[in-house]
Amino acid sequence: MRDLVAHHLLFTLFLFGILAANHACDQNDQVSLLSFPFNTSSPPLNWSSIDCCRWEGISCDQNGKVTRIWLPSRHLKGSVSPFLGNLTRLTHLNLSHNSFSGAVPTGFFSSLNQLKILDLSYNYLGGDISLMFSSNGSSTGWPTSIQILDMSSNNFNGMMQSSFLLRAWNLIKLNVSNNSFTGPIPSSLCINSPFVRLLDFSHNHYSGQIPNGLGGCSELEVLRAGFNSLSRVLPHDIHNATRLEEISLPSNYLSGPISNDVVNLTKLTNLELYGNNFSGKLPVNIGNLSKLKYLLLHMNFLTGSLPPSLMNCTNLSKLNLWFNFFEGNISTYNFSSLHQLSILDIGRNNFTGSLPVSLYSCKSLRAIRLSRNQLEGQILPEVLQLKFLSFLSLGHNRLTNITGAIQILLHCKNLNIIFLEGNFLHEKMPGDDLVVGFDGFKNLRALNLADSQLTGQLPIWLSKLRNLETLDLSFNRITGSIPDWLSTLPRLFRLDLSNNLISGEFPKEFCLFPALISPKAPRDDIYLYLPIFIIKNGALLQYNSLSNLQPKIYISNNNLSGNIPIEIGRLKQLHMLGLSHNNLSGNIPNQISELTNLEILDLSRNQLLGEIPASLTSMHFLSNFSVANNNLQGPIPSSTQLQSFEASAYEGNPRLCGPPLPNGCVDIVSSKVDKDIQDDENWLGMPWFLVSVVLGFFTGFWGVLGSLLCNYNWRVAYFQFLDNVKKRLYVTLGMCFTGLHIRL
Ligand SMILES: *[C@@H]1O[C@H](CO)[C@@H](O)[C@H](O)[C@H]1NC(C)=O
Ligand SMILES: *[C@@H]1O[C@H](CO)[C@@H](O)[C@H](O)[C@H]1NC(C)=O
Ligand SMILES: *[C@@H]1O[C@H](CO)[C@@H](O)[C@H](O)[C@H]1NC(C)=O
Ligand SMILES: *[C@@H]1O[C@H](CO)[C@@H](O)[C@H](O)[C@H]1NC(C)=O
Ligand SMILES: *[C@@H]1O[C@H](CO)[C@@H](O)[C@H](O)[C@H]1NC(C)=O
Ligand SMILES: *[C@@H]1O[C@H](CO)[C@@H](O)[C@H](O)[C@H]1NC(C)=O
Ligand SMILES: *[C@@H]1O[C@H](CO)[C@@H](O)[C@H](O)[C@H]1NC(C)=O
Ligand SMILES: *[C@@H]1O[C@H](CO)[C@@H](O)[C@H](O)[C@H]1NC(C)=O
Ligand SMILES: *[C@@H]1O[C@H](CO)[C@@H](O)[C@H](O)[C@H]1NC(C)=O
Ligand SMILES: *[C@@H]1O[C@H](CO)[C@@H](O)[C@H](O)[C@H]1NC(C)=O
Ligand SMILES: *[C@@H]1O[C@H](CO)[C@@H](O)[C@H](O)[C@H]1NC(C)=O
Ligand SMILES: *[C@@H]1O[C@H](CO)[C@@H](O)[C@H](O)[C@H]1NC(C)=O
Repeated sequence: MRDLVAHHLLFTLFLFGILAANHACDQNDQVSLLSFPFNTSSPPLNWSSIDCCRWEGISCDQNGKVTRIWLPSRHLKGSVSPFLGNLTRLTHLNLSHNSFSGAVPTGFFSSLNQLKILDLSYNYLGGDISLMFSSNGSSTGWPTSIQILDMSSNNFNGMMQSSFLLRAWNLIKLNVSNNSFTGPIPSSLCINSPFVRLLDFSHNHYSGQIPNGLGGCSELEVLRAGFNSLSRVLPHDIHNATRLEEISLPSNYLSGPISNDVVNLTKLTNLELYGNNFSGKLPVNIGNLSKLKYLLLHMNFLTGSLPPSLMNCTNLSKLNLWFNFFEGNISTYNFSSLHQLSILDIGRNNFTGSLPVSLYSCKSLRAIRLSRNQLEGQILPEVLQLKFLSFLSLGHNRLTNITGAIQILLHCKNLNIIFLEGNFLHEKMPGDDLVVGFDGFKNLRALNLADSQLTGQLPIWLSKLRNLETLDLSFNRITGSIPDWLSTLPRLFRLDLSNNLISGEFPKEFCLFPALISPKAPRDDIYLYLPIFIIKNGALLQYNSLSNLQPKIYISNNNLSGNIPIEIGRLKQLHMLGLSHNNLSGNIPNQISELTNLEILDLSRNQLLGEIPASLTSMHFLSNFSVANNNLQGPIPSSTQLQSFEASAYEGNPRLCGPPLPNGCVDIVSSKVDKDIQDDENWLGMPWFLVSVVLGFFTGFWGVLGSLLCNYNWRVAYFQFLDNVKKRLYVTLGMCFTGLHIRL
């Protein structure tokens, strides 16, 4: 009896199975699916069922035809098989975040004319877009059914003719960012696809003008086309697309004024036009954009004063006007309405007046950069209202009262970065008597008080900055010797004391910096709310974290005497060492060659004796080297490295011989070592007018000379360090200045 029931049950199950099999996978579709590199996924895809409609990531219609392949982030690799193009009922294909590679087959989409959603983003796919969207040898463009098309972050290339969108009536979202597309952005886009809401063309090689007609996209919310080579003015009708919430076109060659009509786009939250050639004034009624959160207009040629209505943009969270030509008395603005303001950068403009007191009411502020303007006044105790303040850069203004500034700021608990260089001219370094009961600056990572002609000695309160990683006191008039406690700062890996009046011997203790000795020295990565810029080899480098900065010690141009201690070899993490223009004597210690990471070594203009140690030939990373103007003698050791430097690296040593010296020893040439400074693009000694003259020059002569001299784009390119995966930004702008006679 029991058996009978069991059999009955089995039979029912069997029947059920047959019924279910009614929906079972179409055999042709199953064959097509099996061409898919499904066995490459980890963990493996569950494709064990005999019914392919029950396979993981696959869905079918009632007829067992495959309608969806939804397999994002499955570690799939291999190529997209042409057989998948046989799945004619496919409506959804999502293969994003896998490792598919190779070209998508020619004509792949020609039969997929029900496809609504195509997401191939974040793979390594390539190929010419017009071939894959072709049929019988001619380009067809996107199928009428398509609604969402995301091909972003691949290696696709080719040109998108306007005909591409001819049939794409239903398009809502198009993301082709981060590929290698060329040619113009397709025109008549909004005529063919009037319902489009998101367009992302950024990070490609698009050129030409942004097409007219975008105003016809009455549903358009997001328009991104940054990091291309787009030029000329913004088409005016774009201001008709009143649903726009984001216009993001950074790092192109766009020019002309920012139209007053932009204020009609009252839904805008993001206006990102940085790194272009925009000129003229800000729209007077910019305050109409009351939803604006991000106004990023840095690196343009904007002029005039800030419209007072800007303070009506009460939702502003990030305001960046860095490196423009704005002017006017900044203290007349009342910033106190900007409650959400978290990041403010108006550095490198021509603002005057005193530090705006109203800023102290913007309680959300995390980062402030006002450097390189003409601001006056003192830092007031009210700054302590800014409880979240982490980044403060006020360098190269005309501030006074450094003692007051330090006494106040040391109570700012979250401050990580203080750049005050180029202020407080001829004041006295705040001494220990002035900074009494010191227990502040608990989180300070970077301090820059350079370029101020400060007098006095290195104050002992610096020794309390246990988190300090980088200290720049160069170009002051600091006297006295190098104190022992300096090298006890556990995290310090960048120190610039160059161009002071420091005397005494080069202390052995100096070679004990924990962060420079140990490869495992703690260097945590705090997030910088604003990037910092450093000139190196004539290029302007942008750093988004302190830990990417190169370890260095510069004490050039002081009155140090005595030998270079042999302990110097312990500073194995050092990348840059500058000891030029001192009175150092004795031999160059062999141990210098133990600094295997060294890229810059400048020992010029001392009184060093003896031969150049042969061991220096093993310093393979050395790219900038000078021992000029010493009393060295003998042959220059031969190696591919040491002979690759110019003769000027060895000049001024009458008894030094051999290549690259012509044979004898010739006249004096100044140090080759780059000045490398913290904070904001400290183009030392480079007068502001020179910047404007140069920029004017490059705009004016762009067509003829510009392209030869430099790629006048603020384009930023990412480079990866070999030894770590951290990125640094490299702005080619810096290259433009290499031809000029600027002291770097
Ligand atoms: C996946 O299957 C193909 C064809 O059956 C085979 O050639 C390949 O080696 C398999 N790859 C892995 C990773 O199992
Ligand atoms: C694999 O898929 C089948 C059919 O969809 C299902 O019955 C089975 O539980 C799955 N196996 C695992 C390990 O998820
Ligand atoms: C499926 O696609 C392949 C490659 O495109 C083609 O050669 C084949 O004839 C197609 N098969 C069917 C059943 O349509
Ligand atoms: C594809 O899948 C990923 C991961 O689930 C998802 O984030 C993405 O939105 C999907 N693509 C589309 C167009 O829906
Ligand atoms: C491609 O050409 C063949 C023969 O010329 C024709 O039968 C077929 O319908 C064409 N396919 C498309 C999608 O136009
Ligand atoms: C387009 O895709 C990229 C990733 O490839 C993503 O960062 C970006 O936010 C997307 N754009 C839009 C408008 O969604
Ligand atoms: C660009 O695409 C590559 C490869 O898919 C990816 O690693 C990178 O993060 C993407 N970059 C951006 C800015 O989305
Ligand atoms: C913008 O819209 C207005 C009113 O809707 C219309 O009159 C005008 O022609 C449009 N301008 C452009 C350039 O499309
Ligand atoms: C913007 O608004 C003003 C005033 O309402 C109007 O005169 C102007 O034509 C509008 N501009 C566009 C492009 O719609
Ligand atoms: C800011 O907005 C207020 C109220 O909406 C208005 O009265 C004032 O005129 C605006 N200020 C400016 C400078 O536009
Ligand atoms: C900066 O402003 C001053 C006067 O306030 C003016 O003399 C100078 O030319 C301006 N500099 C630039 C580069 O605009
Ligand atoms: C410097 O600042 C401190 C602190 O704000 C203040 O007490 C002192 O009076 C100021 N000194 C001068 C000369 O203004």
